Amino acid sequence: MNTPLNIVILAAGLGKRMKSAIPKVLHTIGNVSLLERIVNTAVSLNPQRIIVVCGHERELVQATLSHLPVQWVIQESQLGTGHAALQAVPYLEAENNSLSLILFADGPLISAETLRAVIRGTPENGIALLTTEMSDPTGLGRVLRDEQGLFFEIVEEKDAMPEQLAIREIFTGILCAPTKHMNHWLQHLSNDNVQGEYYLTELPLLALTEKKAVNLICLANSREAQGINDKKQLAQQERYFQWCQASRLMLDGLILRDPHRFDLRGELHFGMDVVIEPNVILEGQISLGDRVKIGANTVIRNCVLGNDVVIKENCVLEDSVLGNHCTVGPFARVRPGTVLEEQVGIGNFVEIKKSTVGVGTKINHLSYVGDATIGIDVNVGAGTITCNYDGVNKHQTIIGDRAFIGSDTQLVAPVTVGEGATIAAGSTITKDVPAHQLTLCRKQQIVIENWERPSKEE
Ligand code: UD1
Ligand code: CA
Repeated sequence: MNTPLNIVILAAGLGKRMKSAIPKVLHTIGNVSLLERIVNTAVSLNPQRIIVVCGHERELVQATLSHLPVQWVIQESQLGTGHAALQAVPYLEAENNSLSLILFADGPLISAETLRAVIRGTPENGIALLTTEMSDPTGLGRVLRDEQGLFFEIVEEKDAMPEQLAIREIFTGILCAPTKHMNHWLQHLSNDNVQGEYYLTELPLLALTEKKAVNLICLANSREAQGINDKKQLAQQERYFQWCQASRLMLDGLILRDPHRFDLRGELHFGMDVVIEPNVILEGQISLGDRVKIGANTVIRNCVLGNDVVIKENCVLEDSVLGNHCTVGPFARVRPGTVLEEQVGIGNFVEIKKSTVGVGTKINHLSYVGDATIGIDVNVGAGTITCNYDGVNKHQTIIGDRAFIGSDTQLVAPVTVGEGATIAAGSTITKDVPAHQLTLCRKQQIVIENWERPSKEE
């Protein structure tokens, strides 16, 4: 495919049906905005130029997506899809018989493969339109064909006769033509319709008047061409996107207990026989080693998990690295900056932040560990708290190898616990703890003999 290609993406519309303060094209699917998704697909076609027509909330749209490799063009007032495309004309280079492909930012899941078929199907002297059959075509432009099945007209729902509304073949919004014709037709659109707008759908009519070919390409998979006009369609397309992604991952060897209850909003690398239980959400960059198991209702963001890691049910992990054979949860929170070396056990109701935990160490119940460096084979008893914050600054806690921290210990940082030290349960540690000794800090237990519980007066 050596013909130079221009791509125009229409993204200026008001998006009224979204009922949202956020511009429609900044809503997301799989955490990537609709506009960025379609631009990424456009980039994969290797065009000479991508033009995005923006208008409604354009400052916000451009500022949010300033990293995209596109030329921004402004449509000052939203006078229709044809008028939007017209704004791109000064930037469309017609040299070398280039083609121009028009896309809608609110149809972000169209595949590059489909777009290639549209480009291939563009007549040398005419226009190609992508259509599809929808079981519910409500709100969409219906495609009328003549007796020979050739293109006749596209009618918008608001302009349609009742019998035309029964037609299920619709225009997807995607069309392609040689740039020289496209530029010429765009400059000759009228606004003689119920909405008083300049319709892009008039282009093929202008082509017919000039006896140019109009090629209809009917897409079998209507799901990828579904436009997003409201939040119901946004949710439907999110599910479609997630289903496509899950299908690909399963074919690559991932075990998803229920692909309908799995969300990946980013990129996942995984080893052999990884198992993901229902209702797991993965975000950002995630890497899972061989045989990793992720329990139900867990959220993981930007983490690297080694081989044989087990995350039990209901955990949240962010920006952390877990070595081989670590176990986390159920109900644990691993916060950014945490490094668990191999075979670390983090149990229920444990929160751990910005800490490094050595091989074989166990923090099994109800603890808060923040800004700590913990050695190997340490046992951190239930209810242990690092008091890392004095109200102004954060301080470090250092625990040596094979230390034993009794239950309900408070480690008031900055503090260091020596190697092999033992701290008795219930201690508030404010000074460094020597290695290999028992340290305790608590009142002696006393017994009051012959004491009687108060009883109710008769
Ligand atoms: C449009 C088509 C309809 C097609 C449907 C497919 C027209 C007249 N109608 O209808 O035939 O079946 O898409 O989804 O083309 N936009 C602008 N400036 C404007 C108006 C719209 O940039 O002045 C942009 C929008 O941001 C959006 C796209 O064009 O990305 C489509 O506009 P929208 O109003 O959603 O058109 P539909 O009513 O869906
Ligand atoms: Ca639309």
